[in-house]
Amino acid sequence: MNQSKTDKLRHLLKEEHLPAVIIDLDALDRNAEMLVNFGKPVRLATKSIRVTEVLKRVTSRHPEKFSGFMTYSIQETLALADAGFDDFLLAYPTLQTSDLSALQKIVDTGKKFSMVVDSLAQIDLLNKNWSSSNRLGLVIEVDGSLRLLGGMIHLGVRRSGVRTPKQVLSLIEKMDSTQKFKFAGLMVYEAQVAGLTDKNPFKSLLNPIANMVRVWSQKGVIKLRAQIKSFIQSKGYTISLFNGGGSGNLNWIAREESLTELAAGSALYCPHLFDYYSNIHFEPACFFALQVTRSSDPGFVTCQGGGYVASGEPGWDRVAVPFDPPGLKLVNTEGTGEVQTPLTVPANVSLDPGDVVLFRHAKAGEIMERFNEVLFVQDGKVVDRAKTYRGLGIQTY
Ligand SMILES: Cc1ncc(COP(=O)(O)O)c(C=O)c1O
Repeated sequence: MNQSKTDKLRHLLKEEHLPAVIIDLDALDRNAEMLVNFGKPVRLATKSIRVTEVLKRVTSRHPEKFSGFMTYSIQETLALADAGFDDFLLAYPTLQTSDLSALQKIVDTGKKFSMVVDSLAQIDLLNKNWSSSNRLGLVIEVDGSLRLLGGMIHLGVRRSGVRTPKQVLSLIEKMDSTQKFKFAGLMVYEAQVAGLTDKNPFKSLLNPIANMVRVWSQKGVIKLRAQIKSFIQSKGYTISLFNGGGSGNLNWIAREESLTELAAGSALYCPHLFDYYSNIHFEPACFFALQVTRSSDPGFVTCQGGGYVASGEPGWDRVAVPFDPPGLKLVNTEGTGEVQTPLTVPANVSLDPGDVVLFRHAKAGEIMERFNEVLFVQDGKVVDRAKTYRGLGIQTY
């Protein structure tokens, strides 16, 4: 959005109930166009979207370029299946008995569905409770972390303890032995690179080493994926799905031969953390609007609401940032507050109580959990609105 459009939008938003979350449809569509043109099918990471109308809009415009949905809760997956979506990879295992009936229900619908696992213990537990005569497809997640000194240094996330081709094979053999599950593919998510910013103004000391970590991780994970693929194929198994990546890695994972598809979601909204990557360039498409309600001192205003801090490693880069008018800054001692957010205002900006300020969240989907409805804007005007997962009553966590 250029300045005249954001000015117009902020003016029109005075008529809306605020706080409100907003998606700029033109920017969203441009981001989607870029995303699907990296060169491999994309599995949309729904946790980073959390609006079914957005999932529908993006996938229906490029149906041949998406391989399905990477979901994060079984209740959400079931709701998407009921809404007509198909082809799900539940990428975060659930073992709760209360989720099993939803798991079985979705498998029994005949829709394409598989769930990630990474241990024999999980398969044992599922085996004990699985009563459907239909087999559940399981995708094995292999750890894509960068581990040095025999694992003493672990750069990455703690998701899976599966690290070798032999461990993968033993999980597949275990699935076969139960006759309730079938091997549905592999996932290696190199989170330490996908989430690695290298021009992060909030972590300027770490920026120089980010590139080193990226190069080492990239080399290691490409080798690991190729080794696992050839070993498992040599044992006679077909790998119909091999998922990797995230929005932060799209520029190189798209060229990787082992992968059948890429996972991505955040690229569509481009929250402010995605400004700090030198290797990918998307456009801000998601904002939230707050109303200025008070002004305690010259050069300061205070907005209603705004304390939407993102998950992950705590730090200033997880806090939302003011976006428009330009030049506004958070007050360090308060940040974005539980019920109000003070800002410093530069001399060339005039803001009065009743005016509107646009912000960007640090991450993509989480902001949708704060609102029942999202406003769609185009050319600085609200053109439509849709329910978020929360507005639809879709239970996640
Ligand atoms: C398994 C997996 N793949 C990919 C992603 C990347 O998603 P995004 O593109 O939204 O960063 C995530 C996000 O955490 C994930 O958990």
